Amino acid sequence: MAEKEENNLMEKIVSLCKRRGFVYPSSEIYGGFSSCYDYGPYGAELESSIKKMWWDYMVQFREDIIGLNSAIFMHPKIWEASGHVSGFADPLTECKNCHTRSRVDHLLEDASVIADEKMSEKEIADLFKKNIQKIKCPNCGKSDFTEVKKFNLLVKSNLGNFTDDWQKDPVYLRGETCQGIYVNYKNVLDSTRSRIPFGIAQIGKAFRNEITARQFIFRTREFEQMEMQYFTSPKTEMQEYEKLREYRWKFYTEYLSIKEKNLKWHKHDNLVFYAKEAFDIEYNFPFGFKELEGVHARGDYDLTQHSKFSKTDLSYTDPETKEKYTPHIIESSVGVARIMLALMTEAYTEEKLEDGEERIVMKFPVKLAPVKVAVFPLLKNKPELVKKAKAVFDVLKYKFMCEFDDNGNIGKRYRRQDEIGTPFCVTIDFDTLENGDVTVRDRDTMKQERIKIEDLQSFLNNKIN
Ligand code: GAP
Repeated sequence: MAEKEENNLMEKIVSLCKRRGFVYPSSEIYGGFSSCYDYGPYGAELESSIKKMWWDYMVQFREDIIGLNSAIFMHPKIWEASGHVSGFADPLTECKNCHTRSRVDHLLEDASVIADEKMSEKEIADLFKKNIQKIKCPNCGKSDFTEVKKFNLLVKSNLGNFTDDWQKDPVYLRGETCQGIYVNYKNVLDSTRSRIPFGIAQIGKAFRNEITARQFIFRTREFEQMEMQYFTSPKTEMQEYEKLREYRWKFYTEYLSIKEKNLKWHKHDNLVFYAKEAFDIEYNFPFGFKELEGVHARGDYDLTQHSKFSKTDLSYTDPETKEKYTPHIIESSVGVARIMLALMTEAYTEEKLEDGEERIVMKFPVKLAPVKVAVFPLLKNKPELVKKAKAVFDVLKYKFMCEFDDNGNIGKRYRRQDEIGTPFCVTIDFDTLENGDVTVRDRDTMKQERIKIEDLQSFLNNKIN
C-alpha cells in the first residue's frame, strides 16, 4: 500500500512544511529574506527533539563528554588563529546579464564538472574558464560571467564598536561553534575532573555569508550546529577516531532509525595540511547524497594555533605517565536543519487507501514526532463530548506533547494529524460517555482500538516511551 513518490519530493516537502507549520520562509510579509527560515510550531518541536536526542546521546550517555554553551561573539583574534579570516572563502562569480551571484563550485557541479575540494583559487578559476560553454546562470540561463573571486564567509558586526569605520576592525558572528570549545578547553579542564581523552559538546547558532543558499534548509546563512570536540593524546587519536565514526553512524541508524541504505560514508581525498583523516556521513536527500555530518581527525592544529595567538600554554601533562603534549582533536559536526531535512525525507509517505483516497503521512519515529497524541471530541457542537475530551486532554498534556482538535470532521482531523506525523489520535464519542472508553487510532496502520480512560495513560506511555 505505502509507496514513496520520488518525483518532486523536495517541492512536496517544502510545501508540507509551510502548509502544516514546520518551516516558513523568513520575513515573508516583507517579500522574504534570502537564505533564512523560521521554524513554525511543529518545526520548533522537531528541532527541539533532535537537539535533545543529540545531547542525550553525546553528553548524557557518555561519562567522558561534557557540555558547554559559549557566546556567539568572541574575541576577533580567534578567527585569525583558526584561519577563518584568511582562508574561510568560497569562489564567487556574477552573471553579467542578470547580476545573480553564484558559487563557482556549484555552477561547475550543476554542469557535471567536478571541482576538487582543495583546489586553489587559480585552479578553480581555470577550470571554470575551460568549461564556460557548459555553464549556465541558474537564474537567466546565459553564459556570461565576471572573473572568479574568493569571497570570505565570515559575517561581520559592529558589536561594541561605535565608530563609522568599524568595518576595519569587525567582530564576527561565529562561523562554527567549535571555536568556543577550543578556547574554553583549559577552563573546562581546570574546573572539572576531566582527563584526556574527554570531549566537550555544544549546540548553538552559527553564521556564514553563504553565496548561494540552496536546497531549502540544507544550506542557510544562519543555522544551528551540534558539535563535539574530543581531546586525545597523539598516540590514541586514530583509535578514538574510529570509535567516534562508529558511534556517530549508530546515532543515525540505531538511535534516529534512519535507513542504512540512505546513508553512506564519503572519504575526503584531499585533506587540509593538518588533518589526519576526514569522512562525511552523507544522506540521500531528495537532491541526492549530500553531506549530513563531518567526522574529522584534526591533529593538534586547533590548540596549537590558539596557544600561539593567545600566548597561553594549552599543553597537557598526563597525570600518570607525565607525558606532555598538545592534545589532538577529533570532531563530530552536524547542522540541526540537515538532520531535520533528512528526517522529513525519511518520513514523507504518500499512500493510496483501500477506498481509493490518498493520504500524506509523516512516518516519524514516535520519539521524534512533534505531537505525540491528538485528542478529539467526535462532534464540536456536543458540549458533553467536548467537556469529556478536554478532561482527557488536560490529563495527557502533562505527560505527552498533545493537541486538542475539534475542527472539521474526524476524517479531516486524521488527515491533518497524519501530515504532522502524530502517532496516536484519541477520539471521545457517545460510547465514551456510556462505557468510559475511547478510540485510539494508530497513524501507520490506521487501526482503531477501544481503551478504557483509566488505562489510556499507561497504554500510550508503553507505545511512546
Ligand atoms: N567545525 C567544523 C565545521 O563547521 P563544516 O563542514 O563547515 O565543518 C559542519 O560544517 C556541519 O555543519 C555540516 O556537515 C552541516 O551539517 C552543517 N552546516 C555547515 N554549513 C551549513 C549551512 N550553511 N547551513 C546548514 N548547515 C550547515
